[in-house]
Amino acid sequence: MRSLIDILELTTAEIDELIAVAEDIIATPEKYAEACKGKILGTLFFEPSTRTRLSFTSAMMSLGGNVLGFSEATSSSASKGESVADTVRMVSAYSDIIAMRHPKEGAPYVAAKAATVPIINAGDGGHFHPTQTLTDLLTIKRKKGSLHNLTVGLCGDLKFGRTVHSLIAAMSRYTGIKFVLIAPEELKLPGYVKYEFLGDGKLEYVETTDMEAAMPELDILYMTRIQQERFASHDEYLRLKDSYILTLDKLANAKPDLCIMHPLPRVNEISVKVDDDPRACYFEQAKNGRYIRMALILKLLAEKDQPDTVRPGEPTTEITCSNPRCITSTEQELPQMFRCVDEEHNIHRCAYCDQKAYPKKK
Ligand code: CP
Repeated sequence: MRSLIDILELTTAEIDELIAVAEDIIATPEKYAEACKGKILGTLFFEPSTRTRLSFTSAMMSLGGNVLGFSEATSSSASKGESVADTVRMVSAYSDIIAMRHPKEGAPYVAAKAATVPIINAGDGGHFHPTQTLTDLLTIKRKKGSLHNLTVGLCGDLKFGRTVHSLIAAMSRYTGIKFVLIAPEELKLPGYVKYEFLGDGKLEYVETTDMEAAMPELDILYMTRIQQERFASHDEYLRLKDSYILTLDKLANAKPDLCIMHPLPRVNEISVKVDDDPRACYFEQAKNGRYIRMALILKLLAEKDQPDTVRPGEPTTEITCSNPRCITSTEQELPQMFRCVDEEHNIHRCAYCDQKAYPKKK
């Protein structure tokens, strides 16, 4: 069963094809109006959402299909203790494809193993958000004409920002990309993202805390929200929440064709006065989410009988995932599953949430 948990399950050619289909949908929507007639999308949102859930809904309706689901865990039997696997098994019986958002990292991996229909990860904790990345790539392609040779500033919460991790993973495959990582010390990009995509000269990048100093060289400025829901300490959140606020003054030295992006929702990290600046692309970006999700639904339904592309893992009793946000921390009967990513250094990763582990050698 073909699902989408992580953007890297798509090849670069597949991403380029999805972008091409989305652009065709934008140009000729009538061609697609009945493409999913008789099909049902299940939207299982265990965590709040405006754009992702409603753009998925709009996408399926625009393809002539129907939608069912829930928008909060409390209105589903998850509130009675039903597991993710059982929930998804049931909704597989009522729908042809499922988009799921869950606060626990790795929940979509559980869903993909239990489902009999394709699963689309609509965001799992601070882990992955592949359809946001597809939305971002479509926006960059439409604004810049290409996904190559760009200097991309990523600003704000680079630690918990799942949209940032997925965007780095995807853009690291294109040529001539330089990342400028703008974050307070406490919210710097996690080491594993750097190690996997940027380190050892894989890609050019610099780290800074100074947004204005970085501004002149940027082609893209990707702002992110400091996410209150990801902090263990409220005081720490209060201390960091206003680290970066983009105002018109701070854009004084920016390129005239800078593309300002934000996955939204924003709180106050972009002044509303920036909204009327022609470089503000974030509302258009959110609009693009509908078209790329239409393209993705079409692709996964067409390929539903193709082999599973979700990354494998081996069940083990030797290692326990140490990530408190991993789905295995709440769904106790799940087997611990790990995959070896570096035999030389004995590095394993949790198959659900990608947390690193170094098991003792026998
Ligand atoms: N960008 C994004 O995921 O927005 P929502 O949380 O509103 O879905």
